[in-house]
Amino acid sequence: MKSLCSITFATRCVLLAGTLAVASPAAHAQPAPSTKPAPGKPAATEYKPEVGQEGKDVVWVPTSQALVNKMLDMAKLTAADIHYDLGSGDGRTVITAAKRGARAYGIEYNPAMVELSMRAAAKEGVAERATFAKADLFETDLSRATVVTLFLLPDINLKLRPKILDLKPGTRIVSNTFTMGEWEADETGTASSDEGTSYYRTALLWIVPAKVDGVWKSAQGDITFKQEFQKFGGSINVGGALTWMTAGKLRGDRITFSAGGTQYSGTVAGDTITGTAVSGGTSREWLATRSK
Ligand SMILES: C[S@@+](CC[C@H](N)C(=O)[O-])C[C@H]1O[C@@H](n2cnc3c(N)ncnc32)[C@H](O)[C@@H]1O
Repeated sequence: MKSLCSITFATRCVLLAGTLAVASPAAHAQPAPSTKPAPGKPAATEYKPEVGQEGKDVVWVPTSQALVNKMLDMAKLTAADIHYDLGSGDGRTVITAAKRGARAYGIEYNPAMVELSMRAAAKEGVAERATFAKADLFETDLSRATVVTLFLLPDINLKLRPKILDLKPGTRIVSNTFTMGEWEADETGTASSDEGTSYYRTALLWIVPAKVDGVWKSAQGDITFKQEFQKFGGSINVGGALTWMTAGKLRGDRITFSAGGTQYSGTVAGDTITGTAVSGGTSREWLATRSK
């Protein structure tokens, strides 16, 4: 069990493990009355979350609206997208994505936050496109996602990483501040305004790479890719002579590399890569199929 930061206790918000006690799921399910009942009327209850309040695996600290906007800009989110925010807090990222036309889903363990988010989505007129579920982010099916946003913790990102790497190539993942271990971000950005806070202003974007690791057959010879996330090295074996590749890069299903003075580029679709090989100003079609 981890806490996101000691925002209540320190001048600088630092990553601390276990600083704040983590309540049982039932403990944070109680909406706190915040208004006095008018005479003769039943008590109105309005749940007011507090920054730093306990959460199942991470406390609640909201992403600033400026960074939410930046994260969705970096993801190039459009109305065609299916967006998930894992640990959706008060729903702001989901609501912003829905306002941009996407179908957006918030996954949040705290039921009071889920209800708060639903009310906010209705108020903003996007309840049809913004859906919230009381669920554990580790147990959520993300297979339909094209954009996933996170404001969790490095070790939770790491735990989610295998599942994220199994998403459709090209799925965009954007994290507020926290990294994915040795999987380097494809892009990093900063919120245009800090809204009174100098921390949690960085967004990191990853694009889920196609899986190419292994041996492929091509007219140029057998190709071996040794993949590490969006980067790879390897060789082309032409009649027993190995040509080493350089600058191997995947951006979703787009693959590029150089070998023996030839620039290869193409699209990975399952067990097939199709594209072009350019050498000495001449461009040829290039096809590779995965060796079984
Ligand atoms: C740092 S807040 C981020 C809130 C929101 N995504 C944002 O950026 O404003 C993390 C949220 O994750 C929720 N959370 C913690 N563990 C969770 C879990 N296992 N499943 C779902 N939600 C969880 C917390 O209740 C909290 O609202």
